[in-house]
Amino acid sequence: MSNKRITTSTIREKKLAGEPITMLTAYDAPFARLLDEAGIDMLLVGDSLGNAVLGYDSTLPVTMEDMIHHTRAVSRGATRALIVADMPFMSYQASLSDALMNAGRFLKETGAQAVKLEGGATVAETVRAMVQAGIPVVGHLGLTPQSVNQFGGFKVQARDMAAAQQLLDDARLLEAAGAFAIVLECVPAALAEKVSQALTIPTIGIGGGNGCDGQVLVIHDLIGLLPGFKPKFVKTYRNLAAEITGAVQEYIEDVKTRRFPAPEHSFGIADDVLEKLY
Ligand code: KIV
Repeated sequence: MSNKRITTSTIREKKLAGEPITMLTAYDAPFARLLDEAGIDMLLVGDSLGNAVLGYDSTLPVTMEDMIHHTRAVSRGATRALIVADMPFMSYQASLSDALMNAGRFLKETGAQAVKLEGGATVAETVRAMVQAGIPVVGHLGLTPQSVNQFGGFKVQARDMAAAQQLLDDARLLEAAGAFAIVLECVPAALAEKVSQALTIPTIGIGGGNGCDGQVLVIHDLIGLLPGFKPKFVKTYRNLAAEITGAVQEYIEDVKTRRFPAPEHSFGIADDVLEKLY
């Protein structure tokens, strides 16, 4: 595995070569380092930060300052993966100039190499302006969590003819606007495959089936850190919540029974020093 930073060109080349692209979320330096060293292609500092780390029940309260803070931490941890910062709710919807300034902040202040924003036709001009300003952009279609109140909940999207056609049209618009990849969230697998075949840029699926050019998951879901929350599209590779609870229960027991700290966790002092104390 090369140590060179993965770029948007590397990502495009992977699609051309038919090599699946791997992406995971990260929100802090230790996780970024672990995922980077494991060989992940792209790290997404998702606004899922809101649910996964900050304790909110949606992504809507997440602010630019939250995202800047966590993206900086991820950049300090990862040297190889391409880092994508998610633009939070209302950081790009109100005006083109807000959108450009906020996207620019990620590249200037955090060490991210790209930004991601949600939407199709409604953000195509924004994507174009960002790309013209030199900011690489990942699009996001299907179930776009910042619009959860409009969708009336977290549901599979684009199942009927009109919505499926809209998704394909939106994907083409984002590609034409210069996006270098598109996340497809919670859409039927056969539709995601068709969209992937229709585009020259890669699609990254999350609940988009196996026909996408790459896959992304929230790291907390993959390692089972959010027990009780498991969408159908998540594969839980490890159950770390149970591991953590077990470790903490052992610690509590060790402290209560004075098994911890043991001599090997403690510092010594010469006897004569102790003896001279008065
Ligand atoms: O915020 C996020 O983590 C995302 C992924 C689910 C794609 O947008």
